[in-house]
Amino acid sequence: MNKCALILAAGQGKRIKSNLPKVLHKVCGKEMVNHVIDTMRVAGLDEVNVIVGKGADLVREGTKDRNVSYSLQEEQLGTGHAVKCAKEFLSGKKGVIAIFTGDAPLITADTVKDVIETHIKENNGATLLTSIIDNPTGYGRIIRKDNQVEKIVEHKDCNEQELKVNEINAGMYCFDIELLLSSLEKLSNNNAQGEYYLTDVIGILKSEGKKIGAMVTEFEETIGVNSRVELAIAENILKERINKKHMENGITIIDPSNTYIGADVEIGQDTIIYPGNILEGNTKIGENCVLYPNSRIANSTIGNEVEIQSSVILDSQVGDETTVGPFAYIRPESNIGKKVRIGDFVEIKKSTIGDDTKVSHLTYIGDAKVGSGCNFGCGTVVVNYDGKNKHKTIVGNNAFIGCNTNLVSPVEVKDNSYIAAGSTITKDVPEGNLAIARAKQTNIEGWVEKKSSKK
Ligand code: UD1
Ligand code: CA
Repeated sequence: MNKCALILAAGQGKRIKSNLPKVLHKVCGKEMVNHVIDTMRVAGLDEVNVIVGKGADLVREGTKDRNVSYSLQEEQLGTGHAVKCAKEFLSGKKGVIAIFTGDAPLITADTVKDVIETHIKENNGATLLTSIIDNPTGYGRIIRKDNQVEKIVEHKDCNEQELKVNEINAGMYCFDIELLLSSLEKLSNNNAQGEYYLTDVIGILKSEGKKIGAMVTEFEETIGVNSRVELAIAENILKERINKKHMENGITIIDPSNTYIGADVEIGQDTIIYPGNILEGNTKIGENCVLYPNSRIANSTIGNEVEIQSSVILDSQVGDETTVGPFAYIRPESNIGKKVRIGDFVEIKKSTIGDDTKVSHLTYIGDAKVGSGCNFGCGTVVVNYDGKNKHKTIVGNNAFIGCNTNLVSPVEVKDNSYIAAGSTITKDVPEGNLAIARAKQTNIEGWVEKKSSKK
């Protein structure tokens, strides 16, 4: 038996007013359609087909690392027509197809698993998710007879009686694949919107005597995002859910309403997060860390017992017991060791910094490989760019770089060497040497007095 998923993502999403296809808008840092794809996978549906249409190339590009297949719906003639466009994907398969929409990112894997299990256990032709809400305006209504689902009627096609029904179609279903394929052939577009409605399949199957199941679900899980306002609502709900999960795992979040953690971020136990932190993408934070206020950390791996304050860390690694900030900027492809100090107004770019090295203040290190146990004085600059090309600087272990030093790349500073403050280093410094590269100081005796007597 096949178990697979279809995700509808061909619609235009007019109300979001964007050049970007609606399903690529992000909620907690991840595209809505990718939330849905990932949820399908967690629910055990490995084979996922995405129906694309409006902005198809962008949607393909935005989902390219998700290992899904695609069906193309060139013209958007309705949700039933969209599913018809996946005929090639469906034909020859037997079993269950779960159909979800790319603009409803809050559905949970537990609910998806539940609906599939119910569908199989009850031997249904179709099983749908529904919600009960106070204001059902705009949604398809679930019409029941003797408590059994008879059909779905779209809002625009409802009569007065049907408009009063407050059980709505979530737009999420399981179908028997063969029954779905045969019913799709019977759809007509004779309705208020002139569209081929997927929802009509329910009435068709019912009239053929097939079993229709329905699972009432929290409305919060089924919310579809049609506008920026709804995008922000979804963001808030997911944010709360993510923060709650981390708190339940033993992480302290001092002000959850002001803490923004991406859907895929991992955090170790006993880490404390102050307000204003934004943790994005594929970020991992270790145990016992303290994230003081206002940092942005994206796609980075942070070790255990690290302290970070008011800094930006992108696509990098930071080792155990290191401290970063305030006001440090660690740019992509940096690898910071253990027990390192990256202090205020320090920028590190595409560099390796060895264990126990201290870069305490006002320093730029770019395209460099720095060993362990070094000390960078205040105001050191690695001069990595000659106006055309970037060059590499290598600093060995236990080097002491005096304040206000320029290291003009390419240059190598060997182990256990010293550089005098204010030096501009253009030649390699051998092991154990002191390098001084600055003009000698001259003191001119009586100069001040002479100057004032001239007046
Ligand atoms: C749909 C349901 C409605 C349900 C509601 C839940 C139908 C006819 N109606 O209405 O019963 O209450 O969802 O949110 O299914 N899409 C395509 N191709 C198309 C048309 C739509 O891929 O030709 C996609 C859209 O991108 C979207 C999804 O299908 O992701 C739903 O389409 P939408 O137009 O938003 O349907 P609703 O009017 O909301
Ligand atoms: Ca919708």
